[in-house]
Amino acid sequence: MKQQVRIGLLGIGTVGQAVARALIERHDVLSRAAGTSLVLQRAAVRDLARPRSLAVERLTADPAAVASADDVDLVIELVGGEEPARTLIASALERARPVVTANKRVLAWHGPQLAELAARKGVELRYEAAVGGGIPLIAPLTDDLAANRVLELRAIINGTCNYVLTRMASGERLEDALAKAQQAGYAEADPRDDVEAVDAGDKLCILLRLAFGASCTPAQLHRQGIRGLDPRDLAYGRELGYVLKLLAVARRTEAGVEARVHPAFVPLEHPLARVDGAYNAVHVVGDLCGPVMFSGLGAGGDATASAVLADVVHVARRLALGDPVPPPRENGPEPRLLPMSEVRTRCYFRLSVDDEPGVFAQITRVLAEHRIGLASVIQREPGKHGAAEVVLLTYEAPEAALATAEEQLARLSSTRAVLARIRVEAPQ
Ligand code: HSE
Repeated sequence: MKQQVRIGLLGIGTVGQAVARALIERHDVLSRAAGTSLVLQRAAVRDLARPRSLAVERLTADPAAVASADDVDLVIELVGGEEPARTLIASALERARPVVTANKRVLAWHGPQLAELAARKGVELRYEAAVGGGIPLIAPLTDDLAANRVLELRAIINGTCNYVLTRMASGERLEDALAKAQQAGYAEADPRDDVEAVDAGDKLCILLRLAFGASCTPAQLHRQGIRGLDPRDLAYGRELGYVLKLLAVARRTEAGVEARVHPAFVPLEHPLARVDGAYNAVHVVGDLCGPVMFSGLGAGGDATASAVLADVVHVARRLALGDPVPPPRENGPEPRLLPMSEVRTRCYFRLSVDDEPGVFAQITRVLAEHRIGLASVIQREPGKHGAAEVVLLTYEAPEAALATAEEQLARLSSTRAVLARIRVEAPQ
C-alpha cells in the first residue's frame, strides 16, 4: 500500500486555485476517500511574481519540470488551451505518470492519441472536469450507461452562453450579459470561444466519442454561436411556447449521427428549458434507460475543482492499491456523421415585410415550393417605419430546404429583411 500520492499541479488559475485550496484544506476528507495521503508536491504558475491568496510551497514557473519531476506520482493539468498543455500531458504520460485534466480543447483535438499513449504506458488519463464543470458526466456515460445504445443527446454545455441567454430573456443586451459572465469567471480567456460555440463544439466532440463511438474532431461539427441573437426572438419564442438555448445535439438517425451546436428553441415543458444561468445539463436518451438528465454548475472554480478531485481520488486509490489500469475499451463500428444539409429540424423565421396585400401568399408559395409546412404565424402591425414583422414556425424539413427558403424569402419584393432563422428542437 502506497502511503502517499504526490501531486504535481500545472496551472493555478480559477480552477487551479480551487483545486490547490481543496487539496490543502480538505486533505483529510480527500485522503480518506483515496485511501492514501494526497500531497500537493509541486505547482507550476505562469507568473511567480503575481500575489496569490494561496501559500503553495515549491512553486515554479516551469510546468515542464513539474510534469516530469521524479517526486510527482500524478499530474493535474489545468493550464488550458492547446499548447503547451498537450505537450505537457504527453510528456507526463510518456514518463508513465497518470494525468487528470480539465482541458476540453486538448481532448477534443488530441484525445484519442493521448488515450492511446496512456494505454501504452499503462496509466490513466481522466477528464471528468472537461465537460459540464462539476456535473458527474464522463464516468456515468462511460460506465453507468454502458448497456445502452444512446439514441439522442442534447446538451447545454457552455455556462457563459446559457448565462447570457438567460439574461437576454429578460431583455438584457448580449454584450452587457457577457461582461457579467466574464466578471463571474465563467468565460474562457478569449470569450469569443464561448459566444462562437468553439468551447461547446470541443465538448460535444468529447461526448460524441463517449456516447456514439464517433472519432471526430471539432472541425467536422456544425457550429454556430449566439452572436447576432436579438432579445425580440427570445420574446417571440416564449409566446410560441419555447425558450432559446445554445444546444449541442447528437442524434442517431437511420442515415447517420447528427452532430451540431447552434442556438435552438426548446419547448418550455422540456427539462432543458428550465436550466438557467451558468448551469449546464446533458439530456441523454438511451434505448434501455430512456431519458436521463445530468445537470449542475457547468463553470466556476469550485464546481470544476470538484470534478478534477473526483478523478484525483480515483487515480490515487488505484495507485495506492497498486491496481493495474484496465485496457481501453474497443469501439464498435464508426458511425457516419450526417452532413448538416441532411439534418431535419423545425424552424423559426422572423421577417420584416412591407404591409401590403399578397405578402403571405408570396411567403407561403416559397415554403410550399420546398415542401416546408407552416405550423404557426405571428404578425405584428407596422411600426412607424411602415414595416410589419412576421414570425413563422415551420414543421420539420431538411436543413438544405430551410436554407434555400431563407434565401428566397429574403429576395421577395415584399421582404425588407429576414431578421432571424433559428432551429427548433422537438426532443422526446
Ligand atoms: N467557458 C466555459 C463555460 C467554462 O462557460 O462553460 C467551463 O468549461
